[in-house]
Amino acid sequence: VEQTFLMVKPDAVQRNLIGEIVTRFERKGFKLVAAKLMTISEPLAKQHYQEHDGKPFFDSLVSFITSGPVFAMVWEGEQVISVSRKMMGKTNPQDAEIGSIRGDFGIVTHRNIIHGSDSPESAEREISLFFEKDEILTYEKNIDIWLT
Ligand code: GTP
Ligand code: MG
Repeated sequence: VEQTFLMVKPDAVQRNLIGEIVTRFERKGFKLVAAKLMTISEPLAKQHYQEHDGKPFFDSLVSFITSGPVFAMVWEGEQVISVSRKMMGKTNPQDAEIGSIRGDFGIVTHRNIIHGSDSPESAEREISLFFEKDEILTYEKNIDIWLT
């Protein structure tokens, strides 16, 4: 079963949206298997966003993501990578559908509330960047049999 890396960004932590965001993924039926509140170091931020190195917004992206605590998570479930991207909405909150997380809570691209891995390869890379293997739990819930 698929896993993805999701992160409540510093703007959303400041705006008290951790619970709201976690609730959406819980209610969808996905399973939280790892989570921590942390402040990202500059080297980690640069590694995490390495695909954007050299772009005009790279420095401001790194300084934003290191500007305050984030809530880093690993979520598990069928098709969790693509479905959670749908739940997040488009990168620019102005283009994100109302009903999506960015559509409901975001206003501008550089304060867009949440990060989510965009492919199985980036999920694997990002999960291992933020979590040790023993921080990711394996557990059953009785409700699992009603989900799929
Ligand atoms: P993440 O989940 O954060 O990776 O967002 P994304 O996958 O929807 O977008 P992408 O990976 O293309 O960009 C990473 C982040 O860089 C975005 O979430 C934005 O915060 C920021 N970003 C992307 N494009 C721009 C831009 O044109 N200007 C600015 N200021 N920021 C941008
Ligand atoms: Mg991205």
